[in-house]
Amino acid sequence: MRKSNARTEKMKLSYIRTIMERAREMEYNGKKIVHLEIGEPDFDTPLPIVEATIQALRNGYTHYGPDEGLDELKAVIAKKILRTKGIETEKKNMIITAGASEAIFDAIVGLTGPGQRVIIPEPSFGNYYNCCICAGSTPVNIPLKLDRHCRMDFEKLEEVVDENTGFIVINNPHNPTGAVFSADEITKLADFAMDRDLMVITDEIYEDLYYGDKKPLPIASLKGMKERTVMIGGFSKSYAMTGWRVGYLIVPPDLVESVQKIHQYAVTCVSTFSQVGIAGSIESCDHDLQYFKNELNKRRQYLVGQMEKIANISYIEPEGAFYLFINIKRFGISSIEFTERLLEEHGLAAIPGSAFGAAGEGFIRLSYAASLDEIRKGADLFRTFIAGLEKRI
Ligand SMILES: Cc1ncc(COP(=O)(O)O)c(C=O)c1O
Repeated sequence: MRKSNARTEKMKLSYIRTIMERAREMEYNGKKIVHLEIGEPDFDTPLPIVEATIQALRNGYTHYGPDEGLDELKAVIAKKILRTKGIETEKKNMIITAGASEAIFDAIVGLTGPGQRVIIPEPSFGNYYNCCICAGSTPVNIPLKLDRHCRMDFEKLEEVVDENTGFIVINNPHNPTGAVFSADEITKLADFAMDRDLMVITDEIYEDLYYGDKKPLPIASLKGMKERTVMIGGFSKSYAMTGWRVGYLIVPPDLVESVQKIHQYAVTCVSTFSQVGIAGSIESCDHDLQYFKNELNKRRQYLVGQMEKIANISYIEPEGAFYLFINIKRFGISSIEFTERLLEEHGLAAIPGSAFGAAGEGFIRLSYAASLDEIRKGADLFRTFIAGLEKRI
């Protein structure tokens, strides 16, 4: 008897996990590994959040909460979205999820299905593609333009949209390239979506993490876009809360129920004490967020400075999130071979660009969410590896 199904067989386990597991195995066998593969800050969660959550546990918030999340937390999120993005949201349109990952799953599985095409600009976070496969919808990958910057390819977009295309997924600031799409691009994309009657799923999990003046423009803030945008956010990256698993989803009113059903049957509700703890403390953590951002910026500048010292290395300008996407095409080896050798021969863990889809081939991703000390060691190992490769060109 068949014990699997065609959809899950087509889904791919993340190559990021494969690298992490190999690195762990090597560590277990006594090898020192420098970790620049992991997409999470090394900071501790701000103390007020931890304390408020412990208090919530003591106060007995250990039962089921409302499926779609606690009003207190929704109110705090709505306030932040209004303050930082200028968008009014209503609590009936918001669902608190187990991280942004669940929000992505709920949106794609709840809203797309067989016969529907979903455009995913690549390279991209692998969840979008795999959630489409799980939903039975068709992911349509279009390459992003990658040179010194990472930009949307509107000609390609125009080419692939047909009457069965319902959605485009964007991620801004962007994993893996570290790009922040310009206000012009986002505005052009909004016009395109309205013109071609597309919905936009926007993953804004890195919304707070941008380092220059180029603040990411939330597409839902543009006229006519709120009703055609599903907005995803969360606490994992900005507040160093990856282990807490709390995120959210804001859905236009007529689509809430479809998304709610997936959330209800998969998760029921997010842990009540975490929601109470976050709701009661997050507003007092602005200075922590600012501190994290400043630290990440220092790490970004350091890593970029190191790359600048290596002749012939080019990378995409890292403006947001905490990733550096480095072009390795001149070495004539695949990104998988590059990262495997980097790990096996030098003990530096990095992610091959192809883990983010075919359009990521020819690049590798380094994360600068690790400590400065780790980044320093990583940069040295990277330089040594490149020097060895250069000799063979
Ligand atoms: C673009 C993007 N979206 C979502 C997530 C998942 O976030 P969470 O930990 O809140 O599920 C990640 C994590 O790496 C990410 O890079």
